[in-house]
Amino acid sequence: MRKARSKTASRSQPKAARSGGSKVRVALIGAGGMANGVHYPSLAGFEDVEIVGLCDVDKKKLTATARKFKISRTFSDYGRMLDKTDPDAVYALMPPHVLFSVAADVLDRGKHLFIEKPPAVTTFQTECLAKIAGDKGLITAVGFQRRYHPMINRCWKEVKKKGRINQVVSCFYKNSVPQAQHPYYRGAIDILRCDAIHAVDSLRYYTGLSEVKSVASEVRNLDAWYGMSFNAIVHFANDAVGVLLANWRTGRRFFKFEFHAGGASAFADTDAEGRVWVDNEESPSFETTYTEFVGCEETYIVQGFRAENRAFIDAVKKGKGVHNSLADAVKTMRLADMIYENAITR
Ligand SMILES: NC(=O)c1ccc[n+]([C@@H]2O[C@H](COP(=O)([O-])OP(=O)(O)OC[C@H]3O[C@@H](n4cnc5c(N)ncnc54)[C@H](O)[C@@H]3O)[C@@H](O)[C@H]2O)c1
Repeated sequence: MRKARSKTASRSQPKAARSGGSKVRVALIGAGGMANGVHYPSLAGFEDVEIVGLCDVDKKKLTATARKFKISRTFSDYGRMLDKTDPDAVYALMPPHVLFSVAADVLDRGKHLFIEKPPAVTTFQTECLAKIAGDKGLITAVGFQRRYHPMINRCWKEVKKKGRINQVVSCFYKNSVPQAQHPYYRGAIDILRCDAIHAVDSLRYYTGLSEVKSVASEVRNLDAWYGMSFNAIVHFANDAVGVLLANWRTGRRFFKFEFHAGGASAFADTDAEGRVWVDNEESPSFETTYTEFVGCEETYIVQGFRAENRAFIDAVKKGKGVHNSLADAVKTMRLADMIYENAITR
């Protein structure tokens, strides 16, 4: 994968698409929870990926993560790491309020970039990152793994076999006790844009990534001083309707979907079972569980993280973007903005 580097080549120019068969050289910034739990296990399992360096400002985490994934070159300064290792692509996995400058630096240096959700704290920041990537022709991916959840995807495809998806329900519940201090990074970002954004993004994806025509919404604080419940009906240009049910004041965490088309419906829980019914039949035409479908219980596989990482690496190799790019994430962030702007109760 590594090409001889011309001394005169500009640092800001992206590498040309590499031919298949060789390794993608990836540098990692962040040795925290998501890195260790789902992304580095995915990358470590890909034979066509070489991890060329790891950076974290926390020495303990840096050392432990390097040991776990057998990464020989470690750094406390990501700029130095990028200079020394000259990777093809970079993973930057850190909280949203510290991510922006790191992500912008990586893109400025002409490196393909994978980041977690949320892509930024605001839509404008997301637009700025997407613009740098677009201007430089870089591949980017945002960690919206529900788009890649194997069982959810299969249920969606089963419904699509019968016809165009006309309605999607995206339902994300948590039980979060109201706090004096905001629970998401002390309020650096709100619940809808930081976490319920998964359900907003899934609504867009599973209705076909069509433009938004109208939004009717309700945002409630309930017994907290900040927004806890976000419900919306979104009408898309392709005439599909998306129903968002997001509520952080419930009995427990659930993430569920309904997909409907003429003659077919799926009801699927990301952490349990998925069932598809067709043509008024008594029994489901397709039925599985999220672990049975994949044949393992590893979270990073059953929840779609490995598949989203695979798609990013393939995109870097082919020089062809993924649907969960920064440019597309701008539209998800915009829809979150519209849910606030159109809220009847605010
Ligand atoms: N997709 C999902 O379902 C999901 C779930 C949880 C969290 N997330 C997102 O993942 C992101 C990361 O979350 P996390 O829980 O892994 O974070 P974390 O706090 O566990 O890890 C972040 C790491 O980045 C390091 N870091 C911060 N600034 C740095 C810098 N300038 N240079 C080098 N290292 C730096 C920190 O020292 C820390 O080790 C967040 O945006 C979060 O919203 C996504």
